Amino acid sequence: MVLYFPLQGKYYITFLSKNVILLLFFPTEKRSNWVYIFPTSWYDIDCESKPQLTHLTDHNKKKEEILSWKETNHAGAAVPIDEKIQLHADRGEIVPSRAILKTPAQIEMIRKSADLNTAVLDEVAKHIRIGMSTAEIDEIVYRFTTEHGGIPAPLNYQGFPKSVCTSLNNEICHGIPDENIMIQDGDIINVDVSTILNGYFSDASRMFKMGNVSERAERLVRVTEECVKLGLEAAKPWGHLGDIADAINTHARANGYSVVEDIGGHGVGLEFHEDPFVSYVTPKGSEMLLVPGMMFTIEPMINEGSPDFFVDEDNDWTVYTIDDGLSAQIEYMVLVKEDGVEVLTK
Ligand code: MF3
Ligand code: CO
Repeated sequence: MVLYFPLQGKYYITFLSKNVILLLFFPTEKRSNWVYIFPTSWYDIDCESKPQLTHLTDHNKKKEEILSWKETNHAGAAVPIDEKIQLHADRGEIVPSRAILKTPAQIEMIRKSADLNTAVLDEVAKHIRIGMSTAEIDEIVYRFTTEHGGIPAPLNYQGFPKSVCTSLNNEICHGIPDENIMIQDGDIINVDVSTILNGYFSDASRMFKMGNVSERAERLVRVTEECVKLGLEAAKPWGHLGDIADAINTHARANGYSVVEDIGGHGVGLEFHEDPFVSYVTPKGSEMLLVPGMMFTIEPMINEGSPDFFVDEDNDWTVYTIDDGLSAQIEYMVLVKEDGVEVLTK
């Protein structure tokens, strides 16, 4: 329904609740004032006849609320992003700081970093073989990245000794490449590549199924792929991180698997790891608001058995499943846009 304001006068409009609008009208010509109460779902003012709304007191914020709620019904309307974020903050939601929203110029630079990161993963895919050591994967990553003007982000990151993470079978993540670790027939391995190009960061990982993989490993990798796909589909501007988590966690559990809770994804782009922390077990509608310009990773770790883990005592990095069950992970880096979510690392 379209609401017209055909008469000259002052209109005061406010929300009685999220769902109910109060409209007061003081016509210029007549003495009688009008009061309307109607549902917000009716609020769809025709722009041509839209009057200048005036406000009784300091109700500017209310006006913004009205515009914002209106906009949620009409994708694409131009309400300044800061005001819209503020509205969500006023409702008690977790909102991103300005610092983690990327500018168009930054996005272009980060996109180049992500393109190189994808090319590194393609190079690994081309060369990965049974019988090869994980140190050889590290060499491929180091050589290809530096030859293309990049720096492998993991190298020396908080003391990490190599250029890439290689995590096999029961290793959840952060496996350190080693010349004594050989890829064997039937292994599943996650190769996690992160790149710095001209100071901008990117991050993505793939699963590789080596040779004759067991039915159980095959199924875990397939379900992990499905989880990430469903997580991506659940990611919408002005939705929440919890929407992604819920889609992932629900599908993993429906298949008898668990999602690692205490290790998650992260904001990325200007730094390797930025805000927010991205959980994959939180409920729908919870966690940080998804605002255009945000960039973060979707990288759930899906376990066959328990979600619990322990960290290698000797190297302080490699994370293993507590019950020795298999674990799989796929990582994409995404950009939230006005009209959806773009994967920057294919
Ligand atoms: N994608 C992984 C992460 O964000 C990459 C870790 S690299 C390491 O945690 F150096 F931190 F191990
Ligand atoms: Co990451």
